[in-house]
Parts: sequence; C-alpha cells; structure tokens
Amino acid sequence: MSQKPVALIVLAAGQGSRMQSDLPKVLHRLGGVPLVGHALAAGRSLDPARIVVVAGHGAGAVGKAVKKLEPEAQIALQEQQLGTGHAVQQAMPLLEGFAGKVIVLYGDTPFISPETLEKLAGHSSDVVVLGFEAADPGRYGRLVVTGEGLQRIVEFKDADEATRQIALVNSGVMALDADLLHQLIGQLSNENAAGEYYLTDLVQLARQAGRRADVVTCDESETLGINTRAELAAAEAAFQARARADALENGVTLSDPATVWFALDTAIGRDAVIGQNVVFGPGVTIESGAEILPFCHLEGCHVASGATVGPFARLRPGAELGGDVHVGNFVEIKNSVLDEGVKVGHLTYLGDAHIGEFTNIGAGTITCNYDGVMKHRTEIGANAFIGSDTMLVAPVRVGAGAMTGSGSVITQDVPDEALAVARARQSNKPGLATRLMAALRAKKEAR
Ligand code: UD1
Ligand code: CA
Repeated sequence: MSQKPVALIVLAAGQGSRMQSDLPKVLHRLGGVPLVGHALAAGRSLDPARIVVVAGHGAGAVGKAVKKLEPEAQIALQEQQLGTGHAVQQAMPLLEGFAGKVIVLYGDTPFISPETLEKLAGHSSDVVVLGFEAADPGRYGRLVVTGEGLQRIVEFKDADEATRQIALVNSGVMALDADLLHQLIGQLSNENAAGEYYLTDLVQLARQAGRRADVVTCDESETLGINTRAELAAAEAAFQARARADALENGVTLSDPATVWFALDTAIGRDAVIGQNVVFGPGVTIESGAEILPFCHLEGCHVASGATVGPFARLRPGAELGGDVHVGNFVEIKNSVLDEGVKVGHLTYLGDAHIGEFTNIGAGTITCNYDGVMKHRTEIGANAFIGSDTMLVAPVRVGAGAMTGSGSVITQDVPDEALAVARARQSNKPGLATRLMAALRAKKEAR
C-alpha cells in the first residue's frame, strides 16, 4: 500500500460512438455490472479518500449508476469532450483540499488489477504512467523513455515515423501528486493534431518543472479498453474465463465451467457445487458446501451452507436461504428470508416473506404479495406445514406449527398450531359422472 492518501479520477465522459448505442458506453454491462463499476472496484482496493467520476454523455444516467455502485463518489460534469486533460480539469474543483496521490483511470477499461494500481500509488516518482508493450501499438500514445525516465508521451496523431516505431505505449492510467496536478493542469494547450487538451502532456510539463516521470508496466490484457460491441463481448468472455478459473482455484466445483456465468462480485465458498448452466447476477454469496443444481438464475441473494437450490430455480434480490434449506424446481424467491431447514420443493412463489425454521412449503404455494398498488408481507412461523396450492393473501401470518389445507386461500391470520382450511367443501354426487359422460357422448353423436 502507498503511504499517501489516494484520490481517484475516473474518466467516463466519452460517448463511445462505436458502440452504436443510446446507452452511454460505461453503462454497458460486463460481469453483470456497468463497465464503470469495474474501474471503481479496482480503485476501491486503494481505499481512496475521494472518488471523482467525470461524466458527459448521458451524465445523468452515469451519475445515478455511479452513486449506486459507489455512494461516496462525486460526479464532475464535462459538457464538451475536449480531451482527457480537459476532463481532468473538470474534476479539479472536487479535489480542492485533497493532499496525496491522484490516480486517473478510464471508465471503459475494466481489467486494471488492484495490484497494478498499488504499484502506481506506491511509486516514488512525481508522475507515474502505466504503460505496456503492445502486440500492435496501433493508435496508442507512445512512451518516450530514456535513462532519466519517461520524457514525454507522444500521441499517435502527432508522432513522426521513428516515434511510431515505439511499442511501449500509454494505457491512459496515470498517478501524480495532487499539488503537482493543481500546478500543471491549467498549463495544457490544445495545439496539437487532434485539437484536444491531452492529459498526456502533463509528463513533459512535469519534467520542465524539474520533476521526474516514470513508467510502470503491466500486461496488455489489463489495459484492454472497450470501444465496440464486439470488444464488449470479447471482454465478457475474458472476464468469465477468469472468474471460472478463480472459482475452481478457490475450491468450488463447477460441473461444466463454460456454462456458468459470474458477476463481478459473485462470492462462492469452498466446496460449493455449481451445476451446469447457472447464471449469477450481481450480489450473490454462496456459502461453503451449498449446492446449486443446473439451470438456476440467482441475483442479490445469499445461500447458506448445506442448502440446495434447483434445478430450475430463480433467486431474486433479497432471497436469504438459511442452512440446509432446500429450494426445488420452478421455485421463485424474492425478498424473503428462509430460516434453517425450510423446504420449498416445487412450483412456488415466495415474495416479501419470512419462513420460520423447518417449515415445509407445499407445491404450488403462492404468496399473493401485491395488491396492484402495494406489496405486503407474509409471515410463517417455524415447523409449519403449508399445504399444496395454498394462496397466502398478504398481509397474513401463519403461526408456528400451523397447517393449511391444500388449495386454501388464506386471507386471515392462522394461530399457532391451528389447521386452516379455506376452500369449498367437497360434495359427491353418486353415479353422476357416468350419466354426464353418456349425455355428452350422445350430444356429439347427434351432430
Ligand atoms: C488516450 C491517450 C493515449 C492512450 C489511450 C489508451 C490522451 C491524450 N491519449 O487516447 O495516450 O494510449 O488513451 O487507450 O490522453 N474522455 C473523457 N473526456 C474527454 C476525452 C476522453 O472523459 O474529453 C474519456 C473517454 O471516455 C475514455 C478515456 O477518456 O474513457 C480515453 O479517451 P479516448 O478518446 O479513448 O482517448 P484516446 O484518444 O484513445
Ligand atoms: Ca481509447
């Protein structure tokens, strides 16, 4: 870790026109979360004192998404995209009074590792640029390095043939002291081939001020930026490949790794078993030893040790499964806590409910939690038995040790240990089935 406090500036104002999208580029999803969430997550490892996201295109939507991902982040508005240097200028008022290292990241570059950021933050040079040896240097800025460190960054458009031969290029990530940044940021000019204010010119300005600049390198895979849908799809594949490898390495069994999809924050304990074709949306934690059978979709939920889920189950945000809970096929659970040992075997919807320990929920049970305007809660005590096809019209409470008869529509609370039957009483008409069938057949003959 660095000694100094860290502030992050995340550049995310660009339109990303090559995405061919109405959605701002950094809000396209990767690993279940908006692209910008990846840069924020990597930056979080530095425990930043301040986070400023520079937004422009779709700033309202970007700001909202960022606040959700990182409530402490502040948004700086860059109305016109006049270059990376101009973008950082817009962030400066929000860094007023901050002393320490400022790290500039891109919102569309999701794979920068925390380790690499720590190297930058901990480096002693005045300006530290993250570079990499590019397989194809393409249009990246070229890093001109001598025995005295990094001399300058030359943008492709401004580079002569000799400079274009340099394969060591700029990732865009840069670290420097806040006071130096305050001192230099106003000195950028846009007299260059692109007519933009280049952040990269800070290197030369720092050297002219007698400061030292250096390069820290990383693998090219970390600096992959997203510009097109094809690149987004390729990045998703890379993300998933790494997530699968990490899960296997951490002692998770994946029956068919290529069919399991992870989100950025999926957390799975050792010896959990994940079957084929399981999709994890954001916010899932699976404890050690739980089993997710094939074809399940989970999001914003917690599954405790010993629980089994699926096949074909859906756990939605706020589903909390206690130890040894069993959730079977075609069961949907939303915003509900299932205490230890609860069994929900088949064809059930539980929403806005609390189910006490060891209660059994029969097939086809539905919590009718929505009246068309508001949501209501269902409370079921411990050791209860909910008969198949029970409709629980919320708000309603079923006591501990209580039972409901199959097919009941429960609209009133059921006391502890009571049996509630709420359905029409059955009456048998002797011989009527035979007579009815005969009459129907005769009618068909007569046609
Ligand atoms: C930039 C670097 C280049 C580097 C490359 C790596 C400069 C001048 N050049 O070039 O050296 O090799 O990244 O990918 O910095 N952005 C804003 N506001 C702006 C302009 C850009 O927020 O006014 C954001 C973009 O949304 C993007 C990032 O900054 O996330 C980089 O912008 P981009 O236009 O892609 O920079 P490059 O020209 O590729
Ligand atoms: Ca770029």
